[in-house]
Amino acid sequence: MDIFEKIQKNRGPIGQHSKESHGYFTFPKLEGEIGPHMLFRDKEKLNWSLNNYLGLANHPEVRKTDAEAAAQYGLATPMGARMLSGNTSFHEQLESELSAFVQKQDTILCNFGYQAMVSAIDCLVDRRDVIVYDAESHACILDGVRLHMGKRYVFKHNDVADCEKQLERATKLAEETGGGILVITEGVFGMRGDQGCLKEIVALKSKFKFRLFVDDAHGIGTMGKNGGGTGVEQGCQDGIDIYFGTFAKSFALIGGFISSDEQVVDFLRYNMRSQIFAKSLPLPLVIGALKRLELMRKHPEYKDKLWEITNALQSGLVKAGFNIGVTNTPVTPVFMNGSIPEATNLIIDLRENYDIFCSMVVYPVVPKGMIILRLIPTAVHTLKDVEYTIASFSKIVDKLKTGQYMADKIASV
Ligand SMILES: Cc1ncc(COP(=O)(O)O)c(C=O)c1O
Repeated sequence: MDIFEKIQKNRGPIGQHSKESHGYFTFPKLEGEIGPHMLFRDKEKLNWSLNNYLGLANHPEVRKTDAEAAAQYGLATPMGARMLSGNTSFHEQLESELSAFVQKQDTILCNFGYQAMVSAIDCLVDRRDVIVYDAESHACILDGVRLHMGKRYVFKHNDVADCEKQLERATKLAEETGGGILVITEGVFGMRGDQGCLKEIVALKSKFKFRLFVDDAHGIGTMGKNGGGTGVEQGCQDGIDIYFGTFAKSFALIGGFISSDEQVVDFLRYNMRSQIFAKSLPLPLVIGALKRLELMRKHPEYKDKLWEITNALQSGLVKAGFNIGVTNTPVTPVFMNGSIPEATNLIIDLRENYDIFCSMVVYPVVPKGMIILRLIPTAVHTLKDVEYTIASFSKIVDKLKTGQYMADKIASV
């Protein structure tokens, strides 16, 4: 069959709905200054869908630094991969400051968080090694694992007993192959908002020999003292052997980094294909990241404000009778029951009549009949935003329960 014919026939789980959803549910355009109040189709919406946790995206010092760095260096500088012609003192300074921030010896900068995880996993293991990973891992971990030529064992999400069981299997196999074991999990799971059981997994090191790689995309900046991450929060940062953070969330930028022992980072620097064979981060991004890191260190009150909003939102939702699952981080899922048409109508009502914009998760990402509205609080939301949202959610859930969003009452947008 012709490839083009094939993809025309099967457009993928989300793509199959693209005609109806494009521009509204998928690829919506949020316009104006990044923050809790943005324009959608020319009308202001209260926005809960951005990972701008600390509110840095539009911080005046950040905007000034970004603009000045772009004016001074342009977006092309430096050219080439780090190893060949793309290194600068700013890149090295950022690596050194990030290492101190996450309490590791050394750090390597990466162009994108996703690509960093995939490529680091690929780089660290060979066919003799065994990977043990959490079942609800982010796509970048799953894709890194897909590249692995050796065995992998998956443990039930955040189930330490199952992790131990998989480690037993992995240990047996690694003894046969002469390989090592890499355990991979996340600091904060971005859908449910629960923290990975890092402390408990680190404790398994007393029984098993393995290295722990943690993706802390949502934890850096939001968890632990001064935002040092989920390992700091749980008092087990030393037990995390390889730590990953992205710039795409709390840092409100783009890029990512991996921190570890000096010799591990040195190995990554000389072997990680995504960095050896790709252009290095442009200077304005590196200088912008340095400014954001400085602000995070100087202003712990941004993280305090994030948590004030998070606590108000989560306790208010629970008090109003909503199920927010097991979150213990700012990520706030609101679980409801309903069909996909009901979810669609509910979101349209929420956006058009209550002017609230948030992400919706339905089947096939979650089981059939489940609707998750996912709220991301930030330091720049207000308690008024929280109150308004909870009051609006109470109204829409009543409508959901009384069948007002049924398929035959399809709203149009
Ligand atoms: C857990 C997790 N890991 C990795 C990534 C990828 O990061 P980036 O957006 O920097 O590519 C994300 C972002 O979506 C994430 O949520």
